Amino acid sequence: MYVARTLDELVAAVAALGPDLALIPTMGALHLGHLSLLSAAGRESRHVAASIFVNPTQFNQGDDLARYPRDEDSDLALLRDAGCDLAWLPSVEIMYPGGDEIRIVPGSAALGWEGDARPGHFSGVATVVAKLLNQVRPACAFFGEKDWQQLQVIRSIVEALFIPVRIEGVATKREADGLAMSSRNRFLTPLERQRAPALHRCLRRLARAIADGDEVDVCLATAREDLRLQGFSVEYLALVAASSLQAIAENRPGARLLAAARLGSVRLLDNLAVSPLR
Ligand code: PAJ
Repeated sequence: MYVARTLDELVAAVAALGPDLALIPTMGALHLGHLSLLSAAGRESRHVAASIFVNPTQFNQGDDLARYPRDEDSDLALLRDAGCDLAWLPSVEIMYPGGDEIRIVPGSAALGWEGDARPGHFSGVATVVAKLLNQVRPACAFFGEKDWQQLQVIRSIVEALFIPVRIEGVATKREADGLAMSSRNRFLTPLERQRAPALHRCLRRLARAIADGDEVDVCLATAREDLRLQGFSVEYLALVAASSLQAIAENRPGARLLAAARLGSVRLLDNLAVSPLR
């Protein structure tokens, strides 16, 4: 595996690997969710590159950049074992030469939901992803459906800026009990960890009820109350159109449930497709 830390090293490694390269952008603290993106990329591309960069511009003051878990040695070992061909580990100085005054302003996909909860977050994500795509110039890039809104924001900026890359979404990798894997899960206390899968169970129940034709507003209100009683503080739980992310009042093809809920100090995100009316 090539490990590149400077642009010269990156350019040399990318040239050595050749044109059919997939990129998986990450912020490190790698887990099986990230590795599932690597497997998906390995099935489609000859070579796979992963970037590890904890991007300061996508953090808000509240969600503490300093607390973000970092473990480069273990990340590099995981990437090697997973058959990754290139690890790109740029510094803040490389990614933001001259500071961060030049930013991408994403469009309507970044409004609402995570966009409301974390002002400026998607601008930071869009900016860093555009930089990574321009540095590595992969044929395709893989992102998790776990961060559904992020995936839509990235699709929209790639389209609007004519970035020549194919964007692929990969299904959410879950623990055996349904909890979506996330680097934040390590901050759950043992009791919270036991309770956390209730979020996914709730989405599954809701998706079934909505697919059966139950009234969407009523289902959502019941589910919010249910989660509250189980100790979650629900930030949003909504039925949206999958790519525009507009809230919808009735089921339709492409409908998706989006949720963010706090359990103690940890903010859990999840989402699930709803089948069309049966
Ligand atoms: P990070 O949270 O490290 O996630 C990197 C990629 O892994 C994202 O595409 C994310 O959606 C995906 N991922 C995380 N958990 C997953 C799971 N359980 N199943 C499937 N995929 C999962 O997302 C970011 O970093 C950053 O915002 C980034 C895109 C790298 C820009 O800085």
